[in-house]
Amino acid sequence: MQLSLRNIGILTAGGDSPGLNVAIRGVGKTAIQQFGMRVVGFRDGFRGLMENRFIELNNDNLSGILTLGGTMLGASRDKPHRMPIAGRKADMTDIMVENFEKHRLDALVCLGGGGTQASAYKLVRKGLRIVTLPKTIDNDVAGTDVSIGFNTALTIATEAIDRLHSTAHSHHRIIVVETMGHNTGWLALGAGLAAGADVILIPEIPYDIETIAEAIRRRSLGGRGFSIVAISEGARPLEHASTAGGGNASGGKGNGHGESLGARSQQVARQLEELTGLESRLTILGHVQRGGTPSPFDRVLATHLGTSCARYVADGVTGSMIGVHGGKVTPVDLADVAGERKTVPLDHHWISAARDTGVELGD
Ligand code: F6P
Repeated sequence: MQLSLRNIGILTAGGDSPGLNVAIRGVGKTAIQQFGMRVVGFRDGFRGLMENRFIELNNDNLSGILTLGGTMLGASRDKPHRMPIAGRKADMTDIMVENFEKHRLDALVCLGGGGTQASAYKLVRKGLRIVTLPKTIDNDVAGTDVSIGFNTALTIATEAIDRLHSTAHSHHRIIVVETMGHNTGWLALGAGLAAGADVILIPEIPYDIETIAEAIRRRSLGGRGFSIVAISEGARPLEHASTAGGGNASGGKGNGHGESLGARSQQVARQLEELTGLESRLTILGHVQRGGTPSPFDRVLATHLGTSCARYVADGVTGSMIGVHGGKVTPVDLADVAGERKTVPLDHHWISAARDTGVELGD
């Protein structure tokens, strides 16, 4: 049964990712054109909801944004219950509840990664009607097969590794290429597989540097004097593997072992040079993986999720994330998503495919 909802809000929180504008467009156009709703977009994630900074979304400003990267609303990593205010972190959820009511919102749509899902769930427990969508280039949001932005980042990282191959080959070098991915290896594993990396290092499989060096030496002896090592920013050596999957699911910056993300890449490049005698170079792909126009896959995914989200909101769904499950778009209870992280299962077919094709995973 569809409710007679009048007003909805929308915000984008956490790190941006390609496809956010597509999802905003999908939610907004469906809400306005199919259900006659008023749609308010809050600026800069939860901070805009707290400061009541917003724009009215309409058919005009929702047009022409399909191919644009980033988010037209702006984003921030500020969390409702730990909002940086005058040098300290304060719980501002009550003010957000007030602004939700001031706008007479019937629902708020929050687009974000793991941290945003957890923040949204906190607001749900304060009584707000919220529906979320999963977006992150890390692909680590629980409760969905895939997140908006992952495919674009995968494409960018794959193209970059493809390009690194020719220069590594020409100079008989080891090129270590660091991908993002926070404390999960989806991006490094996917791009490494797609681009034919010789070694792939992900947080889920702690590595032994000597094992990797040996694999590179074997390649060298077999006549292949170059090697590509795709390393996830969260990768860690065996001796730091005491905790399975470091960091936290709500966007913490470290790898959970007192190190910042990416701390190991430089070291791996240096160690491999010493252990193999081959010259090595490090390329950090960084934020280029998050920038620019979304891939066709992400455009279709974000449109599907965004339009479905507006329909679920109209149907009265709340307290849920709209995710993809076996190709179908369905709501999942936010309680089952908040605080969880989808790591790469060790029996995942991408891992067995890598092993079957002789990729060294460092274990
Ligand atoms: O969560 C997305 C992500 O790009 C991670 O892959 C990366 O660790 C992090 O954000 C970088 O965050 P920031 O843009 O705040 O430096």
